[in-house]
Amino acid sequence: MTNAENPSNRVVIFDTTLRDGEQSPGATMTLEEKIKIATLLDEMGVDIIEAGFPIASDGDFEAVTAVSKVVKNSVVCGLARASKGDIQRAWDALQYAKKPRIHTFIGTSPLHREHQLSMNKEQVLDKIRETVTFARSLCDNVQWSPMDATRTEHDYLVEAVSIAVECGATTINIPDTVGYTAPGESAELIRMLLREVPGLDKCVIATHCHNDLGMATANSLAAVEAGARQIECTINGLGERAGNTALEEVVMAMKVRPDIMPFFTGIDTTKIMQLSRIVSTVSGFPVQFNKAIVGKNAFAHESGIHQDGMLKHAGTFEIMRPEDVGLTESNLVMGKHSGRAAFKDKLVQLGMDIGDNAFQEAFIRFKALADAKKEVYDDDIIALIEDTETSTAHSRFQVISVSGRFGTEGPQTAEIKLEIDGVEQKHEAEGDGPVDASFNAIKELIPHTARLQLYQVHAVTHGTDAQAEVSVRMEEDGKLVTGHAAHTDTMVASVRAYVNALNKLMLRREKSAPKPMQQTA
Ligand code: KIV
Ligand code: ZN
Repeated sequence: MTNAENPSNRVVIFDTTLRDGEQSPGATMTLEEKIKIATLLDEMGVDIIEAGFPIASDGDFEAVTAVSKVVKNSVVCGLARASKGDIQRAWDALQYAKKPRIHTFIGTSPLHREHQLSMNKEQVLDKIRETVTFARSLCDNVQWSPMDATRTEHDYLVEAVSIAVECGATTINIPDTVGYTAPGESAELIRMLLREVPGLDKCVIATHCHNDLGMATANSLAAVEAGARQIECTINGLGERAGNTALEEVVMAMKVRPDIMPFFTGIDTTKIMQLSRIVSTVSGFPVQFNKAIVGKNAFAHESGIHQDGMLKHAGTFEIMRPEDVGLTESNLVMGKHSGRAAFKDKLVQLGMDIGDNAFQEAFIRFKALADAKKEVYDDDIIALIEDTETSTAHSRFQVISVSGRFGTEGPQTAEIKLEIDGVEQKHEAEGDGPVDASFNAIKELIPHTARLQLYQVHAVTHGTDAQAEVSVRMEEDGKLVTGHAAHTDTMVASVRAYVNALNKLMLRREKSAPKPMQQTA
């Protein structure tokens, strides 16, 4: 039997992009975005999707419910603190899941016991007993985590884990909550628990690492070598502070080096790039250019020696094939003469399955783009489709036109024409540069108190005619929304991204309180 056939070497992938990933400040996602990501994770073969923390907010509850309804194969998991109320709420949110899992946790380290929980050791053990037993009375599939496990006294951690196992937890997760451990220690902790905790070998042991010291991937893989069989991770390593273990890194490490890591997963790795792009777009967190696996430069070869080697044999400087992570060669796609069939074909190749109406709209936009831009690349098409989806999703406000005056001689001005609830309105404003002027004009047309927290532009491809992809993040009453748009004109992309965020903000307001956004006549 090869390693790939030995079931004991199968590593379960638990994705927490929608829970721990979304917890990173500013990475908030809308319900539709969460559903889209969950659907793709399911198609990618992720074993467990942690969809949210249902007690945290109505939005989280709704997201876990909605994800439970759409996911076909993956287990759907809801997080709960060590309280019956939290656990019941998680269970209620999971009612539609084909395969539900409750994940409950409590801090076990001295710092967490004393300063976060104000509980002594015995009180924490009692809570574990009570809450794991309760969770198991609702659901057969229960995961338990001792938060800050890597800074917990070993003898106490053994006691705590033993109780969770006795009370019926089916997966025991060992979190490195603050990214403090190192590979040798991570492995040793798992070995120690396997030696000391009766019955632990009957449970799945999970590893959940944060990346504060840049060791999350190494720590997760070390835990697997020592006996863990579930890795908790996020797309692009999204997550609190320095993030979580990156799904793409652990999965590809096991795929590329089975000689030293004889483990395998059920992940279709060709979906990695698509998910990476979508998570980056909806979270507003750009992927660092030299990020392993999914960075723009991860497969780029700049130096003469490397390019020469690559032309002779790709293996000289590439340890994995770009196609394996879903990177089709950044080839010249089509120009303005390309027809519908070719465009449709390209979308299928890129794994972008869109409905008929969206296709018509995207094709019109593609033609306009091909007119404006000599060369249209795969990345242009992906940005265009994402832009079409965001701009048609919530359309109370539509951008009709953008024009303005910029340059060294001030004042810079912008004239913005919007359709607001079906009525055309325009406004001209001044500002410190054209973006500021445009946003000032929009504020006059759609008065709001939301604060702009982030304005970010990146070029989709190279060249001065590249599309600009703009993300804006706005905050109102502690709630965040992000807007995105792409266009060859940076000003048009900026205005559309801003208006996209306002449409989302409107939707959020309508959901939380029935106070309509005022408008000027
Ligand atoms: O990092 C952590 O400890 C967590 C727990 C909730 C598992 O995210
Ligand atoms: Zn975490």
